[in-house]
Amino acid sequence: MSRPWIEFIFAQKIGWQAGLYGGSRDGVYSKILSIDEEAGDASVIIKYPPGWSHESKKAVLADEEFYVLDGSLKINNQIYKQDSYANLPGGYPRDHFSSQEGCVALTFFSAKPILGDADSFDDSELITYINTLDMKWDSASNDPALDWMGNKRKVLKWDKEFDQQGTFIFSTPPHIYPNNWLCPTLTHPCAEETFIISGSYIGPCGKMSKGAYFWRPEYKPHGPFGTREGAFSLIRFKYGKHINIWGEEQIKYSFNANYDPILPDHLKQYGDLEFEGGESY
Ligand SMILES: [Fe+2]
Repeated sequence: MSRPWIEFIFAQKIGWQAGLYGGSRDGVYSKILSIDEEAGDASVIIKYPPGWSHESKKAVLADEEFYVLDGSLKINNQIYKQDSYANLPGGYPRDHFSSQEGCVALTFFSAKPILGDADSFDDSELITYINTLDMKWDSASNDPALDWMGNKRKVLKWDKEFDQQGTFIFSTPPHIYPNNWLCPTLTHPCAEETFIISGSYIGPCGKMSKGAYFWRPEYKPHGPFGTREGAFSLIRFKYGKHINIWGEEQIKYSFNANYDPILPDHLKQYGDLEFEGGESY
């Protein structure tokens, strides 16, 4: 039960597929960023065409967590505009589900999103609506060795099992690391997932800019990472405690790393060409 190491792909390179895996959302287009084929949980970008609507008395039988990248969605009486977030537990009733202007939503399912009958849902997990623009940034560091960087976060979903930020948006200021800076790698006992919304990070696998995505399983040493222009991303920690385990060896940092991704076979076709990112997803 795991997802393969993907570090990193540009979402823009993956083609849109009609519908959504699990077959429950006719009329949308989607692209799977990463998936656990056995367990069915996945990270997906869903594109809702203008005028799309879905009328069904059936519930989605998986937790659906989403962040609106573009456009807007309406679920029940709530409109979700750009930079809005929700976590809707499996079984959550949707009497109304539509997108008048169209929408692109970064979406995370806890299991295959099939439709079925449900008369209840876990309301301790329900986050009906967050407009992230209304939130204040707070200091993101849980490691004094990183305090000097000035990272900020907005926590969207708290992981109760591991008592930590589970889903959050993350702001890194510009001007982090000069060329040839020496820094060890980091390793965590949790999986780490990141989608770049704007700006960029540069690391050993190349420059991640808008639309870049990675899924890094537990215990994979990584970094060092830096940025000249700053970066804004959405991050999730899964399946373990986010503890920083620093490597022994000092690694020389470079702003000039070429795109050299770690990809499973089914994504290797997207890892060949240099890509500078793009405006749309
Ligand atoms: Fe990390």
